[in-house]
Amino acid sequence: MSQTDVLLVYIKILDYAGSMSKEIALITGASSGIGEALAGKFAGGGYDLVLVARSEDKLKQLADKLHSAHGNRVHVVPADLTQRAAAKKLLTALSEKNLEVEVLVNNAGVLEHGRFVNMPANTHQRLIDLNISGLTSMLTAFLPGMVERGSGRILNVASIAAFQPLPALASYAASKAYVLSLTESLSEELRGSGVTVTALCPGVTDTGMLSGAQEKNENLVVPEFAVGDVDDVATAGYRACMKGEVICIPGLVNQLSTFSSRNTPRWLLRRITGAIGRYTTR
Ligand SMILES: NC(=O)c1ccc[n+]([C@@H]2O[C@H](COP(=O)([O-])OP(=O)(O)OC[C@H]3O[C@@H](n4cnc5c(N)ncnc54)[C@H](OP(=O)(O)O)[C@@H]3O)[C@@H](O)[C@H]2O)c1
Repeated sequence: MSQTDVLLVYIKILDYAGSMSKEIALITGASSGIGEALAGKFAGGGYDLVLVARSEDKLKQLADKLHSAHGNRVHVVPADLTQRAAAKKLLTALSEKNLEVEVLVNNAGVLEHGRFVNMPANTHQRLIDLNISGLTSMLTAFLPGMVERGSGRILNVASIAAFQPLPALASYAASKAYVLSLTESLSEELRGSGVTVTALCPGVTDTGMLSGAQEKNENLVVPEFAVGDVDDVATAGYRACMKGEVICIPGLVNQLSTFSSRNTPRWLLRRITGAIGRYTTR
């Protein structure tokens, strides 16, 4: 049995207790970057939290910090969401503690940059297992309860990569197109149900995901004006989720970029993104 399997069989919930329980927001990928910032926004908005990611230590540190600042209950659940049964086990573990999730933030995701053929098959598979299968499993696990209760909010973290093909980020862009399309479809299926679903589509944001990709490839240079601040992205995502907006694109640069993607002929868009992709993988 691998270390990951052990983690999953023994899903533990570490509580940072507060006095009164409030509505719960569950955030995946809360151990860093946009997820960590979103956890801060939901804590500030008066929610109790369930923080999910693989790095238990980072989650515990964040839980301590948020509990001290806001006095809310914070539950830490280490889990690897690439594992097929993870979402269901998470739901079961929370149900056993009578913890009902009102807001589900599907933020955990990975990015792989490079030519498709140069990446090992398991790199693509891991990305799909998290960005597509893991996110979908969280929805199939938690959405039915929300619909039954007639109340809930979902925030799926997509990307501006969802709006066009991106050579050199082929699997990543395809995975985010899936998240955006799924969110839009669900927003109509759920109309009138009391459950809203929002796709947060950040542009390039200053997190470990960006620095990690740049460390692997020095040609991956992004102009400073195009790099968003993680707190601004989380603020925009939190507000859009609260309002039940379907698509949220934080920042003017990203709004202009997606507007031009949607209004450029597809063949031309492919040639432009192809040229950029070839440049960054030369
Ligand atoms: N940064 C950007 O430029 C950008 C732009 C648009 C969209 N996004 C999207 O925003 C989301 C968050 O990205 P970020 O920039 O904040 O990156 P990040 O700092 O690398 O955060 C990724 C989070 O996902 C978690 N995670 C990774 N693998 C996991 C797994 N197998 N199971 C559970 N959790 C896992 C990580 O925690 P552990 O390692 O502890 O598991 C971490 O908390 C992603 O969906 C990303 O695609 C990012």
